[in-house]
Amino acid sequence: MTLSIQRIHPVVGTEVSGVSVGSNLDSGSFQQIYQAWLDGGGLLILRDQELSPEEHIAFSRRFGELDPLEGQTVMPYLLPGYPEIYRVSNKVKDGVKQGRQRAGTYWHSDNSHKEYAAKASLLHGIEVPPYGGDTLFAGMAAAYQALSGTMQRLLGGLRCIHDFEKAKSGSFKNETVTDRHLNATPAISHPLVRTHPETGAKCLYLNAGVVTHIEGMTAEESAPLLDFLYAHCTRPEFVYRHRWRRNDLLVWDNRCLMHYAVADYDGVGDRYMHRTTVWGDRPV
Ligand code: OGA
Ligand code: MN
Repeated sequence: MTLSIQRIHPVVGTEVSGVSVGSNLDSGSFQQIYQAWLDGGGLLILRDQELSPEEHIAFSRRFGELDPLEGQTVMPYLLPGYPEIYRVSNKVKDGVKQGRQRAGTYWHSDNSHKEYAAKASLLHGIEVPPYGGDTLFAGMAAAYQALSGTMQRLLGGLRCIHDFEKAKSGSFKNETVTDRHLNATPAISHPLVRTHPETGAKCLYLNAGVVTHIEGMTAEESAPLLDFLYAHCTRPEFVYRHRWRRNDLLVWDNRCLMHYAVADYDGVGDRYMHRTTVWGDRPV
């Protein structure tokens, strides 16, 4: 097997094949893959990864320290014995959900409601439906670049409030969200334009699931600008749509991407995935 690294989209996405990341990937190959991740807009598509949970966790740790998910809202979906792995699935076995259903069906960046939001997420497609269940990725650096200088300067001075309370009645309305969960991550302000700590790229930073308003503005005042920005970032020019193959391992950079999981596969087939989450810096 020879390592092959290929860009597959002008904005987001690099496909990697001919390598098994579960075995002891040498540090030279890892460095090459990591650099391709940064250079290719923040999404790696690693094909044909037959990975045990231990291997998935070990590979994820090469990107940084993992966010321990114990005690968080996704607790019911952790893989038993592996608190670092969160299951996303539409499967139900003996009345028990095998993972969180319809996770991420809105444009978001993982864990942006936290002070130290997620750096990377690694999602392993263990079972995928024959069609449907695609995941979309929007390149937030390209979206920023395409704005006028005047708009860039205006946005550069703004911050957004990310509040998980919004998710309680929205994307998490079918989950248990307690006061303890909410108190653990009080509403936080993050810059609307963040600078990627490794590439230096300026990126829009938004999350439709938890952003309530622009700091210092009312929700009503914020809405037209936020609506424009969500529509702008998710224009087809900035979006890559991933059609899953079994044993794809996707690594996405939450610092420069938003993603959206299309929940269109009810009755089409089973989808079962394992996710790890790599802790990040405080957005600046
Ligand atoms: C996630 C998520 C995407 C998907 O796991 O963070 O948004 O396609 N899932 O399941
Ligand atoms: Mn997500």
